[in-house]
Amino acid sequence: MKILSIETSCDETGISLLQGNPNEPFDIKILGNALASQIDLHARYGGVFPAMAKRAHVEKFIPLLKECLLGSGFLKEKKEDILGEEIEVINALTIKETGLKGDFIKFFSSYEKPEIDYIAVTTGPGLEPALWVGVNAAKVISAIWNIPIIPINHMEGHVLVTMLQNTQTDSEKDFVLGKINFPALALLVSGGHTELVLIKDYANFEKIGETRDDAVGEAFDKVARMIDLSYPGGPAVSKLASQCRNNLVVGLPSNGVKLPRPMLHTKDYDFSFSGIKTAVLYHIRDLMGQKEKEGLEPELSNEEKESIAHEFENAVVEVLVKKTTSAVLEHHISTLIVGGGVAGNTYLKNELTKSINSKSPQTSIFFPKNWLATDNSVMIGVAAFARLVQNNYESPETKDIVAYGNLSITDGGFRK
Ligand code: KG4
Ligand code: ZN
Repeated sequence: MKILSIETSCDETGISLLQGNPNEPFDIKILGNALASQIDLHARYGGVFPAMAKRAHVEKFIPLLKECLLGSGFLKEKKEDILGEEIEVINALTIKETGLKGDFIKFFSSYEKPEIDYIAVTTGPGLEPALWVGVNAAKVISAIWNIPIIPINHMEGHVLVTMLQNTQTDSEKDFVLGKINFPALALLVSGGHTELVLIKDYANFEKIGETRDDAVGEAFDKVARMIDLSYPGGPAVSKLASQCRNNLVVGLPSNGVKLPRPMLHTKDYDFSFSGIKTAVLYHIRDLMGQKEKEGLEPELSNEEKESIAHEFENAVVEVLVKKTTSAVLEHHISTLIVGGGVAGNTYLKNELTKSINSKSPQTSIFFPKNWLATDNSVMIGVAAFARLVQNNYESPETKDIVAYGNLSITDGGFRK
């Protein structure tokens, strides 16, 4: 089966075409994959602005759709224009994304319908104006080419894409969907979420803990700004932290910054990261005050930045590892799945793997490939494929498919 998948929940526009074998061993081939990041756009402002994100998704949509489908060799040119009634459908479905209208009319006049069985689209969680671009675009393609839509939860995408494993060919296009042994647990760590999700069976999700304030990726991004690193801050903070870690190994002193580990000892599986971030702010303020008193420039030195990044990464990873390990032990977890942008963090990977290997060696632990950890559309197609092979998917009437900014993983892709 062939699935066209669309992701526009935040600051990445992604469109992919996957071919999945519905019989075990569930091979998945990436036939086409196009991704445009808005990082440069948002870096200037240090965060994502929904209206700007929406505009960028609209601009990029058709070029990416063409790139994905032409790249896969599935698009054939045609010469005749589309019908008047089809233009009316496109007009009606792009009322809020008028920028898509002309592009779509040209696109459908230029290409024949390729053999695609399903369209999978992210319906939430995310920035609603951004989500709507993908949802409405999916509705247009569905209406003109007569292909059913499967609404997909973005967080479910982060879980399932972690289970993609290379085949013997080791190509980054041919994968097999790994088997999840239940009960499984997902640690989802991204710019918008930090949650522990118990998975008792396929698509049977129960949230057992989550952040009470900032998401861990958001905390990385905010600390990055405080130490003059650009958005998204996670990889940059992590790089400085590891430089400091290497220096400590060779005996260089750290600057002695000590940050709190909020909720480390609470019995629940909730998290809180805003206190660590505030502690970083106070530390920098005190340091600057001290420098001014001494008649020095109120600027952070490289060593001071490295030391803040290092202690910050240590603090958040310590809390994540402790709580995740406790949940693995309490729920006798067979498969631990780590997903989301922060799952690409090397220190988290190393520390969590060490902890699980020593305290619960029978648990298998999976991290996503780095290029699939941050937002992309392959993950949406993979989640749709997993639903399809279990014959457990929602396919509501197209008019009922909507974008939900605050969709929970327990809702699936469609809230009834
Ligand atoms: O999953 P994602 O691409 O988008 C959301 O759904 O939010 O995650 C993006 C987040 C950003 O906050 C980014 O700073 C963080 O993931 N991130 C990292 C790393 N790579 C990305 N945080 C820590 N270490 C990393 N290596
Ligand atoms: Zn995400």
